[in-house]
Amino acid sequence: MFNISRSSFIKGFALGLSATLVLTACGGGGSEPASESGPAASESPEGTFRVATEPAFPPFESQSESGELEGFDIDLMEAIGAEAGLDVEFESLPFDGIIPALQAGTVDAAISAMTITAEREETVDFSQPYFKAGLAIAVREDSASEITSLDDLQNKKIAVQIGTTGADKAAEIPGAEITTFDSAPLALQELSNGNVDAVINDAPVTLDAIASGNLSGLEVVGELLTEEFYGIALPSGSDNVDTVNEALNTLIENGTYAEIYRKWFDADPPELPESAL
Ligand code: ARG
Repeated sequence: MFNISRSSFIKGFALGLSATLVLTACGGGGSEPASESGPAASESPEGTFRVATEPAFPPFESQSESGELEGFDIDLMEAIGAEAGLDVEFESLPFDGIIPALQAGTVDAAISAMTITAEREETVDFSQPYFKAGLAIAVREDSASEITSLDDLQNKKIAVQIGTTGADKAAEIPGAEITTFDSAPLALQELSNGNVDAVINDAPVTLDAIASGNLSGLEVVGELLTEEFYGIALPSGSDNVDTVNEALNTLIENGTYAEIYRKWFDADPPELPESAL
C-alpha cells in the first residue's frame, strides 16, 4: 500500500511539461454536487472548480506514463473537492504563470507545492498550511566537500526553477551566477550534467529525485535553508478560502489527510500550524 513507484515519478519528469492537461477529478459520488450555497459563487461558468498545478514536481505533482496527474497534492485536492462538493478540474500551467492566472480569474485555485509567503499574500489568498517543507542545496557528490553551506555558494553557478522560493534564495547570494529553468527536474539535470555547481530547491522534491535513481551523483548538503509551508492559493478575496479550509480540517480530523501523507511519504504527518507566517 505504501509502495511508492519511483519509476513512475521519473516518467513524470520526462513527459512534456508544456502541454495543458485537463483532468476531471472523480469526486465522491457519481452525481453532481448540490451547491446552493457557498462555493458556487466564484466557480467557472461550467460549474467546475479549476485548479492550476505545474506537474513536474514529484512527489507533489507529476504526470504518469499515461499522462494522468498524480502525487500528494493531486490526491489531497481531489479529497478536498469530494469533501467540499467542488468538481475539481486540474489545469497544468508553468509555475510562474500560476499567480497571474489566479489574478486574472482564469483558474479558481492552485495546488502546486506553493510556499505561503508574505509577498505572494499581497496578490493571492492562501488556505491554511497543508505541508511543511524547506529549501535544500543539492550538489554533485564530487564537490560535496567544498560546498557545505549557503556561504560556500558565493560566486558559484546555481540552477533554480523560475519563480520559486529557491530562485529567491539564490538571488540573495553575493556573486552567484543564476540560471533559471522551467522545471525543477531540468535544474537538477543541469547539475548532474556538470554545468552548474548547485541547485536550490524544495528538499522533499530534490530528495525524491535523488532516491528515484534518475539523476546520478547528486547529494543534498548541510541543513535545510528554510522552513516553509505550502498552501492552496486562491484569488484574493475568494469565497472558496473558507470552503477549502473547512474541507482540509475535516480531512485532517478524519484521518484521510494522514492516509494520503503516508501513501506518498511513508511516514506520519507532522503537526501543522494554523498559519504559516
Ligand atoms: N515551494 C516552492 C515555491 O513555492 C517551489 C514550488 C514549485 N512547485 C511546482 N509545482 N513546480 O516557490
